[in-house]
Amino acid sequence: MPTTKKILILPGDGIGPEVMRQVRRVIDWFDKFGDIRFEVTEGLVGGASIDAHDTPLTDATMAAALESDAVLLGAVGGPKWDALPFAKKPERGLLRLRKDMGLFANLRPALVFDALAEASTLKTELVRGLDIMIVRELTGGVYFGEPRGIEKLPDGSRRGVNTQVYTTEEIRRVARVAFDLARKRGRRVTSVEKSNVMESGLLWREEVTYVRDKEYPDIELAHMYADNCAMQLVRNPKQFDVIVTDNLFGDVLSDCAAMLTGSLGVLPSASLGAADRQGRRKALYEPVHGSAPDIAGRDIANPIATLLSFAMMLRYSFDDGAGADLIEKAVTNVLNGGVRTADIMQPGKARVSTTVMGDSILRELDKLGH
Ligand code: IPM
Ligand code: MG
Repeated sequence: MPTTKKILILPGDGIGPEVMRQVRRVIDWFDKFGDIRFEVTEGLVGGASIDAHDTPLTDATMAAALESDAVLLGAVGGPKWDALPFAKKPERGLLRLRKDMGLFANLRPALVFDALAEASTLKTELVRGLDIMIVRELTGGVYFGEPRGIEKLPDGSRRGVNTQVYTTEEIRRVARVAFDLARKRGRRVTSVEKSNVMESGLLWREEVTYVRDKEYPDIELAHMYADNCAMQLVRNPKQFDVIVTDNLFGDVLSDCAAMLTGSLGVLPSASLGAADRQGRRKALYEPVHGSAPDIAGRDIANPIATLLSFAMMLRYSFDDGAGADLIEKAVTNVLNGGVRTADIMQPGKARVSTTVMGDSILRELDKLGH
């Protein structure tokens, strides 16, 4: 009997729903021809949920996320909801999912497809063949640290406070994820912090070193200050294999690394929790790009990032590396064939819609075989 996996799909806002529609077709394709049966349910998150339920994530959707084998999310946010108070913003839906599912490890690959190497703003030879994995801590640090808030001072002025805080265990568990990934790649990890100015950064450096010495002596570990890392990423990005860093630096550096590829529209991500006794992790997969409200609803967005996020789901949640390879191969072939959505359009290539990109990938999947 084939196994059945429960996927919760949260298309969200902006281009989320239209790219998800194409990915849904691919999920259905795998449901039909692959070894795993998928039980898919859809829910609302972000602005879509605010409009329907006056909250960026309902308790019912949160419960559905916790019950599912994996969550696939589109994107959240848009100008329509920008003026809302902090606690009601679309982004809070995403942050609650991360926190309540315990998704402490965020995997953000920055991978350059050969066909797109020229799309980078950096010189082609600097990025051709680039393959970096950024592991960003996702449930701690300044994003969630207490105290936080804006307070009024006696003189009538105000004071804004956020707290950068990390514990031994928070650092060690995300370091282990990075070292495990490095073992399947180039066996090199760069740990990034600001231990020259922050105590939490010093602790970060010490704990990462401890884990390496104790558990991963086979992995080469380097330390780098975050500002230098930003600089090195644009100077010589291919020096990196796996980068592990905190929540805020990871947010910034992963955008920087993403742009090296010249194509935010093709980059996926995975957010993983702790492994349970069966080795299963709670997991959420989402594209690195945002909701892109300026192009939403026009059928021109690139569905590849969300599709590759589904491929990561197959690989990391369902142990289906072959299925993930198949999707990645289909995408590679379609790109090599010259098919492009607007965001990755190059001279002499065929510019297609979101839907036609979906068609092309499905046709390729049919060709590559069931
Ligand atoms: C990201 C985004 C989020 C973050 C926002 C939407 C809350 O920038 O996933 O990188 O800051 O983590
Ligand atoms: Mg970000």
